[in-house]
Amino acid sequence: MSIETRRFDTLILGAGGGGLRAALQLARAEAHVAVVSKVFPTRSHTVAAQGGVNAALANVTPDNWHWHMYDTVKGSDYLGDQDAIEYMCRAASHLVYELEHAGVPFSRLDSGRIYQRPFGGQSRDFGGAQATRTCAAADRTGHAILHTLYQQNIRARTHFFDEYFAIDLIRDGEGAILGALTLDIATGEPLVIEAKTTLIATGGCGQLYRTTTNAHINTGDGMAMALRAGIPLQDMEFFQFHPTGIAGKGMLITEGARGEGGYLVNKDGERFMERYAPNAKDLASRDVVSRAIAIEVREGRGCGPRGDHVLLKLDHLGSDIVAKRLPGIRETCRTFLHIDPADTPIPVFPTAHYVMGGIPTDRFGRVVVPHGESPEEEVPGLYAAGECACVSVHGANRLGGNSLLDILVFGRAAANHILGFLKKNRYHRPPNQEGIDRAMARLTRWEKTGDGETVEAVRADLKQAMEDHCGVFRTEEIMREGVEQIRAIRARIPDVRLRDQSKVFNTARVEALELENLADIAIATMHSAEARKESRGAHSRVDYPERDDAHWMKHSLYSLETDSLDYKPVRTKPMSVESFPPKERVY
Ligand code: FUM
Repeated sequence: MSIETRRFDTLILGAGGGGLRAALQLARAEAHVAVVSKVFPTRSHTVAAQGGVNAALANVTPDNWHWHMYDTVKGSDYLGDQDAIEYMCRAASHLVYELEHAGVPFSRLDSGRIYQRPFGGQSRDFGGAQATRTCAAADRTGHAILHTLYQQNIRARTHFFDEYFAIDLIRDGEGAILGALTLDIATGEPLVIEAKTTLIATGGCGQLYRTTTNAHINTGDGMAMALRAGIPLQDMEFFQFHPTGIAGKGMLITEGARGEGGYLVNKDGERFMERYAPNAKDLASRDVVSRAIAIEVREGRGCGPRGDHVLLKLDHLGSDIVAKRLPGIRETCRTFLHIDPADTPIPVFPTAHYVMGGIPTDRFGRVVVPHGESPEEEVPGLYAAGECACVSVHGANRLGGNSLLDILVFGRAAANHILGFLKKNRYHRPPNQEGIDRAMARLTRWEKTGDGETVEAVRADLKQAMEDHCGVFRTEEIMREGVEQIRAIRARIPDVRLRDQSKVFNTARVEALELENLADIAIATMHSAEARKESRGAHSRVDYPERDDAHWMKHSLYSLETDSLDYKPVRTKPMSVESFPPKERVY
């Protein structure tokens, strides 16, 4: 069977902020760039980012990038790589101004400068008073950024393949990546996209969990593709639970709500964060706030008839502030809870939000894997950026407002490195039929439906198992059971029945392919979590409650091929300043 083939300098998988920032850099430099997205680009999950993007602009309080770097290293619970963190924090202000000039409608201060709000884990002067560092467009910052980047890409003539699903990377015998096999969802036709360089920017995998702030599209497709191509995933045990998802439903209520002065109370009306984080209180780091909420509920101080949530109070802020600064979450509360948060507190509970782990990269966006004695050897032609990547700037716990920054900084960095690569590698490598056949086998398997359970039923069990066995607090026993359960669930997938049996619609095939991706990521996550016998950042072990730097200050690497874990050192040396050595993390 001959498969239609297109050729580009660079193939970008994913049209969120990371993919689009990279595409813009490449298209402006006249590289021939294709962006493949399984949804229309402006529906990518960046659109849902609410509170803002961190940059030490110092528009509201004194600030500088070095304080931002300190906060990020501390927030990461000292697992973040300090060279990459320095690079990100230094680049932040420039990238935010660049967005402003590109047309992002940031909210404004009375002075006309970009509006900034306080966010969790931010400090002045290396751990002093609260900083005000998060640049915001009301509570729709991601929406504003994504639309602007998309418009600028149209202007720069980036080539978009909208509603194409990436099946697998195409790899030659030497391990170089030659592009990817994709599926045109509308027609069901496969399309091979050959490229000298491929950037994976497919976002996160929040659909691993039953209650999540993530869109349905966040099924970890790029991360699973990397696993199948023999690339290990790094630090998958670190999954962030956002403290304020709407209880039981999961919709995000931005940390910006607490940045604007909102606070959490338990059933006694007590502002309980004062006990857990006497200085930062409600603006402590996310892992700290999420654990505090979970403890309040577990110890019987939760609210509501089942005592299963706490309340986020905004009613003291006044209707004007809520309307001006938090219009999106007001709409969400009206739609899903039938309340106005300007009058009525919002029921919230920690909700799956962000994966700190992902495809291992260096600060140029190159995918790097351990090889022999070397902890980092690049995979020729392959790059990754954004939530699917682990560079690692977030370490064990990401600070709010650093994810939009990550996608901008490392989307651009990857594009800059790609431009250098393209200069040195002017010709495509020869196509590799074996690589194409391998990817095609994955697609053709789903041309016929199985006759077992539905995709939905298996996916629901997977998400429930993750929620029950890999949540805010973890123990050996619970995770061991979790590993068994996930393995058993994965074994059910080959027989699943697709949604429409009379005719196999492409969307039904895509759902099955997404389920396979989720299952591989679930295994990687559960396995890595079970193995890490310490508590660090978002990975909180009841049976190992302390951080153990002597044994565990290292990155995990899970490999699907061997179903095993390896480890590599944390890069503790920044580029131009002194390291921040690990110390006790208090807020
Ligand atoms: O709370 C929020 O607005 C989310 C921000 C983030 O995850 O960075």
